[in-house]
Amino acid sequence: MNKTFYIETYGCQMNTVDSEIVTSILIGAGFKLVDDIKEANIILLNTCAIREKAVERVINKMGQHKAFIRSGKLEIAGILGCIPEHTGDELKAKLDFIKLQVGPDKYRTLPQLIKNIYKDKKYHEELDFDIEENYEDVTPYRSEHTNAFISVMRGCNNFCTYCVVPYVRGREKSRSIDSIISEVEKTIAQGISEITLLGQNVNSYDYNGIRFPELLQKVAEVKGMKRLKFATSHAKDLSEELIDVIVKNNNISNSFHLPFQAGSNEVLKNMNRGYTIEEYLAKIKMIREKIPDIAITTDVIVGFPGETKEDFEETVKVLKDTEFDNAFMFIYSERKNTASAKNFKDDVSKEEKGRRQQFISELQKKIGLVQLKKDIGKVTEVLIESVSKKRDDQYKGRTEQNRIVIFDKIDDCNIGDYVKVKIIKAEGVTLFGEIVE
Ligand code: 5AD
Ligand code: SF4
Repeated sequence: MNKTFYIETYGCQMNTVDSEIVTSILIGAGFKLVDDIKEANIILLNTCAIREKAVERVINKMGQHKAFIRSGKLEIAGILGCIPEHTGDELKAKLDFIKLQVGPDKYRTLPQLIKNIYKDKKYHEELDFDIEENYEDVTPYRSEHTNAFISVMRGCNNFCTYCVVPYVRGREKSRSIDSIISEVEKTIAQGISEITLLGQNVNSYDYNGIRFPELLQKVAEVKGMKRLKFATSHAKDLSEELIDVIVKNNNISNSFHLPFQAGSNEVLKNMNRGYTIEEYLAKIKMIREKIPDIAITTDVIVGFPGETKEDFEETVKVLKDTEFDNAFMFIYSERKNTASAKNFKDDVSKEEKGRRQQFISELQKKIGLVQLKKDIGKVTEVLIESVSKKRDDQYKGRTEQNRIVIFDKIDDCNIGDYVKVKIIKAEGVTLFGEIVE
């Protein structure tokens, strides 16, 4: 079909990959991707439902895009991803001009659905889950030139009580090793040298008995693999074997994202996280003993139902004692259908939630900067990712520990190159340096 489409992506890295899959499917069916909304006949928003704020953002954005629909060129507006599965009906009632909603397992139906809309001018949706759908044969359309995300599994079976993911992305399914390796090889052949394997909980990867450490080892051995990362790990089933694979392979990044969510065992139990804080901290200790220069990041939720001031103090203590490189801190947002919405009262006030988040954000800023400053004076290998947003005579790159570095351009250095950079300064969450080689 000779129509143009524009796609906007919200939420996690998994959605970034899904948008690349959608783009590939649509291009394969003859549609043309445009990067200017004014040129688009079809606009698709690939959405996230993890917190209410994410939903509000999409509603606002689609409201703004409505003007383009009135202007005539834009003919179809559609919503993809997690919101259609979560509150699709409510969204449609609020944004009555939407013609299409498609959930994460039904992207193959998009070309036909769009053709149907052009024919009958009616609203269409496809929201079923499909336990077999891993898009194994679809080569994602890559928009980045230095890094690629490759999904190794979809969905989640953990049912953390606050989390909507198992309801909006369905049950966990692992992709075949062969299809993963083949995508990795293709991606490297395209000149992309940094690859991130993605799953909601990579530690539960299981393809015919092959588990994640074995998969990671196999991917690390692919010819031309320069830098390999993965996310996200879950502390309840993170194994020593996985850490040993990182130790053994120089091309696996020394960075680790391990959410702890809360410091209080009572809260962790109510969250159904499957570990105590002591067990979590023992895993951190094990990781640091085996890989002393590892950068560890985490996720934290404040204001979970029943979280007392004392519970919150335990979260503060974990942050202080563990000294994470970075922490993503979220205010609890009650999600429809989840166990916490059904069983607990969202009883921490909005103000108190805000205060708690503010407090740990300030704290983590200081802790993160102390960690970052430890790199000053070191010479480290950096992958050049892009021109710096602030100054076009500078590059932005990433260290082996996934830290952002800004440095002056020199002749003969290009995006995608690896250079040795001496770190001279640290500010906020950014390192500054100069190329030495
Ligand atoms: N409210 C707030 N934060 C949430 N997260 C997941 N669900 C919710 C929710 N209902 C956070 C968790 C998770 C990260 C991706 O988002 O910290 O690790
Ligand atoms: Fe959500 Fe827990 Fe699954 Fe992560 S592991 S996606 S927080 S249910």
